[in-house]
Amino acid sequence: AKITFHQTNGHTDTVDVATGTSLMRAAVTNGIHGIIGECGGQAMCATCHVHVREPYLDALPPVSEDEDEMLDCTATPRHDTRSRLGCQIQVTDSLAEIEVDIPESQV
Ligand code: FES
Repeated sequence: AKITFHQTNGHTDTVDVATGTSLMRAAVTNGIHGIIGECGGQAMCATCHVHVREPYLDALPPVSEDEDEMLDCTATPRHDTRSRLGCQIQVTDSLAEIEVDIPESQV
């Protein structure tokens, strides 16, 4: 699957990711600026916060209770509909591509 990361300065990076990888892991592995993933993907730090672009929202599973709580603790304010934790977005066979905006700050 292809994941495109949009930085606040307009820079974009697209990476090709194997099924079963999380969006957070894909970002960290590829050195994408602005995604930290401090807790290692356990929905406990909110430093993998992203704003998912509208067309891709429906393809994602709903926000879990843990994710929902953590999204209230993000450094950049939570967006009503587009905020997700990158570690909770898994690349599956049914997700061919996704585009996300990286928020201004994670800490
Ligand atoms: Fe910590 Fe996602 S990596 S909440």
